[in-house]
Amino acid sequence: MELLNNKNYWDQEWCKIFDKYQNDPRFAHYLYAILERDEKRILEIGAGSFRDMEKLNKWDIECYGIDFSNKSVEKAQTKFPQYRHLIIQANAFKLPFDDSFFDVSYHNGFWSCFSNDDINSLACEQSRITKKRMIVAVHNAHNSSFVEYFNKLKVDDPLYSARFFTISEITSLLEKYCYDIQIIPVGKGKKLYEDYLINLGLGSRDNLKKCFFYHKMDLLEHSERLLCIGQVK
Ligand SMILES: C[S@@+](CC[C@H](N)C(=O)[O-])C[C@H]1O[C@@H](n2cnc3c(N)ncnc32)[C@H](O)[C@@H]1O
Repeated sequence: MELLNNKNYWDQEWCKIFDKYQNDPRFAHYLYAILERDEKRILEIGAGSFRDMEKLNKWDIECYGIDFSNKSVEKAQTKFPQYRHLIIQANAFKLPFDDSFFDVSYHNGFWSCFSNDDINSLACEQSRITKKRMIVAVHNAHNSSFVEYFNKLKVDDPLYSARFFTISEITSLLEKYCYDIQIIPVGKGKKLYEDYLINLGLGSRDNLKKCFFYHKMDLLEHSERLLCIGQVK
């Protein structure tokens, strides 16, 4: 897991995987469904491919993205020149923004690169710059076949050494900084639901929102990620 918070590792990795990541837009759709109409200024932390911040901007939400990898930032600024001013190189432990500058901040797979002590510092900094809600997506430890799949692949590729979290682990990390924590299992396991709608071009904001609240936890053991939402204290 240590490699996953090493800047040189990510600089090399983004040269290889940046373009491939652009092909999977699901997470931006999940976010769009969850964002409320009065949440207007958003930050993505550890944005990597910057695919989700680009989509949110396209859908008229002002979304900044930061990453400490200059390779990912350079590639994103070249691919999305219209949002160049929102694509920033920065360290998530010390963000270059004023207190409560954003309505919402989010990340996907980012905490899976860190120990609990680091996550505590990252959460503290994230809560400082966030006025309303923090959204955190992590690898889902309740999906044992997904855990096994990563265990096999990580032998040859450190990208798969990401940490997995149970609901109680992620809740205890978040509750120091957030209240009213809600958890929604998302991703692939829900082929018949959200991902299916997205693939068919029917994944509108309202359709996905209804879908999330309709089946809640019933696919916990089959979903890739836990999407955790908390109100900042
Ligand atoms: C799992 S990837 C996130 C991928 C991203 N969600 C996407 O859709 O492309 C984790 C990202 O965190 C970045 N990162 C790791 N440590 C960081 C830090 N201290 N500050 C900022 N970014 C960091 C890495 O460069 C990498 O891009």
